[in-house]
Amino acid sequence: MKAEPDPDKQIQAMDLFYEQVKRVHGRALWQTQGASKKSPTIPYLWKYKDFRPLLFKAAEIVPIELAERRVLVMANPGILTDWQASNTLLANLQIIKPGEVARSHRHAACALRVMVEGRGAYTAVDGEKSYMDPGDFVTTPNWTWHDHGNEGEETVIWLDGLDIPLVQGLETNFFEIYPDAKYPLSSPDDLSQRLYGSGSLRPTWIKHNALHSPLLNYKFAQTYAALKTIAEQTDGSPYDGVCVEYTNPLTGGPAMATIACFASLLCSGTRTKAHRHAGGTVYHVIQGTGRSVIGGKIFEWEEKDTFVVPSWTYHEHQAQAESVLFSFSDSPVLQRLGLYREEVLEEHGGYQKIEGTFKPLPVPERGVGVQQKT
Ligand SMILES: [Fe+2]
Ligand SMILES: [Fe+2]
Repeated sequence: MKAEPDPDKQIQAMDLFYEQVKRVHGRALWQTQGASKKSPTIPYLWKYKDFRPLLFKAAEIVPIELAERRVLVMANPGILTDWQASNTLLANLQIIKPGEVARSHRHAACALRVMVEGRGAYTAVDGEKSYMDPGDFVTTPNWTWHDHGNEGEETVIWLDGLDIPLVQGLETNFFEIYPDAKYPLSSPDDLSQRLYGSGSLRPTWIKHNALHSPLLNYKFAQTYAALKTIAEQTDGSPYDGVCVEYTNPLTGGPAMATIACFASLLCSGTRTKAHRHAGGTVYHVIQGTGRSVIGGKIFEWEEKDTFVVPSWTYHEHQAQAESVLFSFSDSPVLQRLGLYREEVLEEHGGYQKIEGTFKPLPVPERGVGVQQKT
């Protein structure tokens, strides 16, 4: 008759076995959390009124030559690297004083900017220059030379979005500095806008085979006018309001290969229903006041604030005044890889159960993020 195994001895044998596997730098897969591991990105909100005085302080005490670009990152407290807004994206605020130039460089990461305040600054990309007004969305596709300057009278602040964490994760984060401060201009200012700005008319004689949009600057005035015209006819999506994507006018695809960008108009009093989708999304409030419920928590936002919705987290929005939300996400990457999915909340009439209100987390010790409970 076979003896019953001794459970204590079995545990001891397994522990010994796991140690042996570890000694050869292996792990028993059934012991790891594997696919069930949650994203460390937590829903978070950064108030512009907190960052603005710090940006002006940086402009006062840090010479641009020293900083290269005078940028403050909005660091998600859930992520240990302490410098990214989501698992794949950075959201930063950059300040540039009149007369300054942020010298030319290029990198494998894609970047975008949304103008927050001030006029007179430009971005030049691969020899084309565009002056930027508040609300404008400007692309800096990967591996394009770009410099910025402020030729106006006002100090200028913009939001930078980048996919550096994604590119770093893929170990393809190349970077190069141009020998001169400015890359030589080779076309009239805003040429791409004149060529492609209509959205539906394509110049037949130009070949543009890049993965990114040929359009450098999507002017806010044009976007806002389009949103208002659409809003006269429809409430738009029940989950995003009147939401438009900034597309590559040649393909209808995303503005850049790895980052999709959107503008949503939420009319005063609009309340959207909750949904969730794969891919983290950063929102920036171009104008308006309202609140979003993200993962069951209320986030109150106002003009120029920035907040992040982590991947696969329910979110819904409510506008107290007419609001325009700019947002960007890594969804093009997920869509191309077959990893994108979305889901609508069916319970509670499509609205989340409120479990609390967002409060800023205490600042963690340097370099140590606050781990989300899994
Ligand atoms: Fe850059
Ligand atoms: Fe959404």
